[in-house]
Amino acid sequence: MTTLAILTAAGSGTRLGREIPKAFVDVGGVPMIALAARGLAASGVVDAVVITAPPGRSADMVAAVGPLSVPCDVVEGGATRQASVAAGLGRADAATDVVLVHDAARPLAPPALVERVVTAVRSGRSAVVPGLPVTDTIKRVVPDGGSPAAPGGESAQPVERVVDTLDRTALRAVQTPQGFDRELLQRAHAEGAARAAAEHLAATDDAGLVEALGVPVHMVRGDAAALKITTAHDLAVAELLLEGR
Ligand code: C5P
Repeated sequence: MTTLAILTAAGSGTRLGREIPKAFVDVGGVPMIALAARGLAASGVVDAVVITAPPGRSADMVAAVGPLSVPCDVVEGGATRQASVAAGLGRADAATDVVLVHDAARPLAPPALVERVVTAVRSGRSAVVPGLPVTDTIKRVVPDGGSPAAPGGESAQPVERVVDTLDRTALRAVQTPQGFDRELLQRAHAEGAARAAAEHLAATDDAGLVEALGVPVHMVRGDAAALKITTAHDLAVAELLLEGR
């Protein structure tokens, strides 16, 4: 009975505007990938970590992570996040009963959050995601042709039309790590994507693939510190959070 954490780090992270893949970017002087891996190891509920690296960067990834208190392996990721998770999942053996999927782009996810997810899976929920209430009003939109040029010669911006306003009391912003019974996640990766496509379901995370199988996904409380670093603004917020720790 062991828990394997797949740590996805094979993305380029172009929206961060750096020359290097996002996982190698420092937060508080430490590479994001090292912070994320240490957070998983510090939870005490993760037995091993497998990191998905960008093609040709496995050795650099090992160096960036540095020493870790649990065994850590690196595999090359795929062209999409889903393909990268599948590559990591290939390292799960029969002794692995729980698999976590976590993004290096959430380097400050607290160990207590990792523990909360694993505890929920071990208590019988076969798919568990952390989530937080949505604070913004969320509207659904469609493109609306018009793109008036802004005064002062600024480039034209696309205009969208609001279709409706969603009931935010029923919405949650979902984070990682997400936790799964290993066999369920393997089935979700084998069958879920095709089912999601056939039924026009959004499967933008691993839990989405499980939902496409019709298997219930449960949610535990997320943590604001597990924010996803996508833009330079997010990186600045993460730096401040780390300073305050
Ligand atoms: O690009 P984004 O931040 O949404 O990616 C989420 C996570 O998935 C990141 O940690 C990124 O490194 C990882 N990823 C991956 N393989 C890809 C694309 C993204 O492991 N092909």
